[in-house]
Amino acid sequence: MRRRPLLPCLALIAAVSVATASAEEIDMGRALYAEHCAACHGADLEGAPDWQRPGPDGRLPAPPHDETGHTWHHGDTMLFEYTRRGGQAYLDDLGVAYDSGMPAFGDVLSDAEIRAILAFIRSTWPERIQEIQAARTAAERAE
Ligand code: HEC
Repeated sequence: MRRRPLLPCLALIAAVSVATASAEEIDMGRALYAEHCAACHGADLEGAPDWQRPGPDGRLPAPPHDETGHTWHHGDTMLFEYTRRGGQAYLDDLGVAYDSGMPAFGDVLSDAEIRAILAFIRSTWPERIQEIQAARTAAERAE
């Protein structure tokens, strides 16, 4: 039997290659995460207690950023914009009716700082999850 050509496989591997961040960027992201995100999303990225159930205000608490949450279900562009603009502005633009408790950080953090935080979060995921998320990022860019 003829073997399938190798080229498409290589293209696929290239498309989903995991974004590499320098150790310095990840360290910076770790420190910024502790300062700006950990209070709600948890020091170990574990999320707020009972995060899948709406709180007394009807809003969903902060989800984990580790592999047990759904952060990795989204590509980098969404995660960046969600953090920069906040959940409400992001979802309003999509026409999604949702009362979001996720604040905007665009006035607090530079784009590079947000990217560093996301690089840190990604760096904590197992390789398999990093690969799936990298594919989402690639698909998002192709949209
Ligand atoms: C005041 C509490 C609070 C702080 C501080 C906070 N968040 Fe959130 N975040 C939330 C809540 C609540 C949600 C869930 C509601 C939503 O998705 O809009 C959320 C959701 C998110 C999501 C969407 C995750 C998903 O899977 O849909 C991302 C990404 C995110 N936060 C990133 C960050 C980052 C990065 C920081 C630090 C720079 C941060 N958050 C700081 C409360 C917070």
